[in-house]
Amino acid sequence: MELVLEKVNQLKGNIFVPGDKSISHRSLILGSIAQGETRVYNLLNSLDCLSTLECMRALGVEINRGGNNSLKIEGKGLYGLEEPKDILDVGNSGTTIRLLAGLLSGQDFYSVLNGDASIRKRPMKRVVEPLRLMGADIWGRKNGQFAPLSVRGNKLNPLHYTLPVASAQVKSALLLAGLYATGETVIREPLSTRDHTERMLEIMQADLKISHPEIKVMGGKELRGTDIFIPGDISSAAYFIAAASILEDSQITIRQVGVNPTRTGIIEILKKMKAKIETLNYQVKSNEPQADLKIEYSKLKGVEIKKKNIPFLIDELPLIAVVATQAQGKTVVSGARELRVKETDRIKAIVNELKKMGADIEEKKDGFIVTGPSRLKGAVCESYNDHRIAMSLAVVALLTEGKTVIKNSECIDISFPGFEKTLQKLINS
Ligand code: S3P
Repeated sequence: MELVLEKVNQLKGNIFVPGDKSISHRSLILGSIAQGETRVYNLLNSLDCLSTLECMRALGVEINRGGNNSLKIEGKGLYGLEEPKDILDVGNSGTTIRLLAGLLSGQDFYSVLNGDASIRKRPMKRVVEPLRLMGADIWGRKNGQFAPLSVRGNKLNPLHYTLPVASAQVKSALLLAGLYATGETVIREPLSTRDHTERMLEIMQADLKISHPEIKVMGGKELRGTDIFIPGDISSAAYFIAAASILEDSQITIRQVGVNPTRTGIIEILKKMKAKIETLNYQVKSNEPQADLKIEYSKLKGVEIKKKNIPFLIDELPLIAVVATQAQGKTVVSGARELRVKETDRIKAIVNELKKMGADIEEKKDGFIVTGPSRLKGAVCESYNDHRIAMSLAVVALLTEGKTVIKNSECIDISFPGFEKTLQKLINS
């Protein structure tokens, strides 16, 4: 599929964005191993989350539609999952494969995790190594570096571990394994990362203690099913926040967006660039904060983003490159080497595509430098089958002279089905 877009004058109106992807994955996994029913409201209905849902069903969990647009999960308790009869297919989802690697390490059965070509290139050693330290019997290609992963679940020992890379997926995998360990697992984070797993474990009454930078979880304590209200995904909202900030005369409101402080790096950085973003109607639901965001166009200036800021806006960095092309001066991103091992090498991808459009952008080994503002021209672009690259390019397309074609745009459904429709609503309002 191709997404073809042209210059627009402005964005106006009110929208909702679909449910948060990270929280959706966690609600499916934790709901499945809790005792009793979990009802999930506003689950993200995207390919990545569908992968997790089908994996949990293959592990014997009943998950059905409930009333009021909810999903009903019949929790099996910590020890109620069943051996899957076939390979578990995670599709394109890094969160699914890494979190399930942790979960399956503690199960008394054999299972195999595999995914698409992108998943089979992504680093798995970061979960395999600490899980092996807990006593997990887990294997993968190149001594556990790459999927497919196969797991023969075991009794696990508790782990005391400092994460060598700042990764919420690895942290979450180890917390899930920790639920099955014979004692207290202690994880130390050198840099804080998104804390949705911890927040959900808390409302499900896990034995969890958090004193930054340490998280402790006691194994063997059953979780309690609960109602989970999922806020809009700030990573999906980010495309419209960015677009409204760089298109003159724009003014939009995005309702009920998750504003967990471990995810709002994009808002903080855009504000530093002088964007006009207001937070309204703040409330906390299911232990996750949410708010309406009101965004107006404003003249932006360049900014410096260093390693310590990276985890809170990791998925928004390609979009920052886009915004930086319209900001006055230099934007320098460093300490973001992790971007090279996402769904695609996101540094290379965004640098290549923005260059085609005439941007002044330089590739660095752990980031990029953009000098703006630039007048950009439409081009035929690649998505690299990466949803975040495709949507970031859709934002640039709104201000280029001439048509922009984004090839293989169907990957947008990985995280944001309905992206184009929502965008059209803002264009036509
Ligand atoms: C995610 C964590 C991040 C992020 C990904 C979702 C999660 O990955 O990039 O989109 O749900 O935990 P890492 O843990 O690899 O940084």
